[in-house]
Amino acid sequence: MEFTFPKDFLWGAATSSHQVEGNNTNNDWWQWEQRIPLEMRSGLACDEWNRFEEDFKLAQTLGLTAYRFSLEWSRIEPSPGQFDNSALDHYRDMVLSLRSKGIEPIVTLNHFTIPLWLAGQGGWLSDKSPEFFAQYVHKATEALGNDVHYWITLNEPAVYTYKSYIVGQWPPGEKSAIKAFKIAQNLAKAHVLAYGKIKEVYTQKGWKKPMVGIAQQVLIFEPSSDRSLWDRISAGLRDWMINHLFVQALTRRKTGTLDFIGLNYYMRQYVRNRGFLSANIFGEEHVLENPSVRKNSLGWEIFPQGLHALIKAFSKYKLPILISENGICTNDDAQRSEFIVEHLTAVALAIKEGVPVIGYLYWSLLDNYEWADGFAPRFGLIEVDYKTQGRKVRDSAKKFEGIIRSGRIRF
Ligand code: BGC
Repeated sequence: MEFTFPKDFLWGAATSSHQVEGNNTNNDWWQWEQRIPLEMRSGLACDEWNRFEEDFKLAQTLGLTAYRFSLEWSRIEPSPGQFDNSALDHYRDMVLSLRSKGIEPIVTLNHFTIPLWLAGQGGWLSDKSPEFFAQYVHKATEALGNDVHYWITLNEPAVYTYKSYIVGQWPPGEKSAIKAFKIAQNLAKAHVLAYGKIKEVYTQKGWKKPMVGIAQQVLIFEPSSDRSLWDRISAGLRDWMINHLFVQALTRRKTGTLDFIGLNYYMRQYVRNRGFLSANIFGEEHVLENPSVRKNSLGWEIFPQGLHALIKAFSKYKLPILISENGICTNDDAQRSEFIVEHLTAVALAIKEGVPVIGYLYWSLLDNYEWADGFAPRFGLIEVDYKTQGRKVRDSAKKFEGIIRSGRIRF
């Protein structure tokens, strides 16, 4: 059977500022990295700040029609209330470069990192943080809005809350449920204010109405054992809290502030709960040691059917869906080709069943800095040699290109 994707389907790839730009010395992540070994620090990353033109040309040769990247807040507002026009001009050059190549820019306003000055005031814990964010978003919208149609305010607010404030793996390394709750509230407020600001600027300027959303990481949570009520409860709670809670809050009937939902999908996770012996109602992740389970190089289970199931589950919000990230880190590029085909098949099925999926963005355009995991995981369509900053288009990228150019997939 063959499926033809809609004509205006967005075929793209994604990155984020701190992971690719290099030398983002003025944010909380850079400061956090000073305590870890040199090779685990972001450093020059992919030197994308200086090499975007070359990489966008490669993206164009691959037939991409969309590119998601993030603005680095700490470059645009290096100190409170002081905006750096040269940074805004730089991002404007990026947007125009994409447009000139027929590539739709999809701009993320916050992808995990925050300026040092804000971190010094408590980061997203500060009651002022939503308002600070809105001011920065206002400036960015005025500078870029004329040429940007798609905005993503926040990347994975639930993951950020979890990693930075529950398990403490990311800056500021907190482990506090009370703080996490406050963070989630402030992030939701920040989104709502930013949404309002973007709309206000577009209306004032008379620009065509933009599409504003968030990118939400979604996982398939499976009970470790179907027979265990506790496992089922914990898996269900995770599904609600991690996958849906944020989106639910932002799509309430009268106060909806999402024009589309971005889904970042990577894996299936098994959840185990030791019942009354467990202190944690959300249970714990249980890694299956089953040799038939396919995994990426970080040990995440590859489960393409999960993408289909999640798209269907999110169709209940009755909003367009963008697959804002989906990808694999692997040293076996044939595995990447297979991953892309299988996940695009899942998307095709969902569209065929009537869900409005508007695009698919592979994570990532190029190998990059994978946060606490450093540079070892290789997610890119384009390989990066970090010693020379050389680029090499992988065969999987060509496979993806073939699908893009034909606009069809066979399954
Ligand atoms: C994040 C990216 C990250 C990717 C792979 C997503 O959760 O948005 O920043 O690199 O997953 O882990």
